Amino acid sequence: MSLAVESRGVTARVPGKINLELVVGPRRSDGYHELATIFHAVGVHDHVTAVPSDEWSVQVAGPYAARVPVDATNLALLAARRLAEAAGLSEPVALSIDKQIPVAGGMAGGSADAAAALVACDTLWELGLAREELVDLAGELGSDVPFLLRGGTAIGSGRGERLAPVLARGELHWVLWVSHDVGLSTPEVYAECDRLRGKAAVPDPEPSGGLLAALRTMDTVTVGGALRNDLQEAALSLLPELREVIDAGADLGVDGSVVAGSGPTVAFLVGSQAAAIDLSVGLAARGPQGDIKRTVGPVAGAQVVSASSPSGPPTRTG
Ligand code: C5P
Repeated sequence: MSLAVESRGVTARVPGKINLELVVGPRRSDGYHELATIFHAVGVHDHVTAVPSDEWSVQVAGPYAARVPVDATNLALLAARRLAEAAGLSEPVALSIDKQIPVAGGMAGGSADAAAALVACDTLWELGLAREELVDLAGELGSDVPFLLRGGTAIGSGRGERLAPVLARGELHWVLWVSHDVGLSTPEVYAECDRLRGKAAVPDPEPSGGLLAALRTMDTVTVGGALRNDLQEAALSLLPELREVIDAGADLGVDGSVVAGSGPTVAFLVGSQAAAIDLSVGLAARGPQGDIKRTVGPVAGAQVVSASSPSGPPTRTG
C-alpha cells in the first residue's frame, strides 16, 4: 500500500513486539494471568490510515491480510470507535491497514493496529490527547496495546498493561522465523500453560534481575542467555514442529532464542547485522519452511508518519 494520503487522511506506523522475558503468574479471577514481562518493540511495522467516511469500515492489504477480520471485531476499528465515543464524536472513518506484522504470531499485530488507529484518529480529529490518556483507552482494548503506543523496551505488569521503563542502551539484532500457514490463539496458549502446570502452586511473577542487568549493556551473549518465556512450553506442546525451528537456530550458533509471546513466531538473537544475514541464509537453507525477517530493536511505538489537513496539502511528519 502506498503511504500517499487521501484527502484529510492520517497514517500512523506501528511496530510489532516480542517479549524478552515473559513470566506468567497465577490465573486471576477475571481469566487473565498476572505477568512480569519485558516488552521489546522490533522493526516490523504495520501502517494504519484513517480517512473520514460516511460509515465505519476497515480494509487490509499485505502478506498476512487474509487472516485479519474486517468486520466489527477488528481491533483497529474497535479502537477508533472507542476513541470517538470517549471524545463524544460521531465522525466515522474508513481504516486501511498495511499488514506486515504476522497475524496470530505472538507479536501483538492486532494490538499494534489498535494503537496505530488511536494515534491516527487522535491527529485526524485534532483531539490533542496526551499519551497517558491514550494509554488508558489502550489498556481497555487489550493488554499489549499500551506498550505498542510506547515502544522501546519496557517492563509490563498486571496483565501487561501497566508499564515501567527499562534502562537499555544500544540495539539488538534479531532474525524472526514466522510460520507460513499456522497461527496460535493467545487464549489457547494460556489455557495450555495452565493445563501443563496442573494444580502446582504458581508464584507471583517477578522480572529477573539478570536480564535487566544485561540490557543495561546490551551484551548480546548475556541477553541471549537470559531470554525466557513461560508460554514457550505451551506453544511447543500445541505445535511440536517449533522445536525443529529452535534447534536449527541453536545449530547455526545463535546467541539466544525465544518464542515471541504466545507464538508461533521464533525470535533469534545474534550479535551483528552480518551474523543476522548469515543466520537467515542458514535457516532458509535448513528449514523448516517459514518467512524469515531480519530486524532490530528497540524501535519507537505508534506514531503519525503523514497527515493532510482539509485546508492544505499533505504534510509528512516523520
Ligand atoms: O488482553 P488481550 O485481549 O490481548 O488478551 C487476549 C487473551 O489472552 C485473553 O483473553 C486471555 O485469555 C489471555 N491473556 C491472559 N493473561 C494476560 C494477557 C492475556 O490470560 N495477562
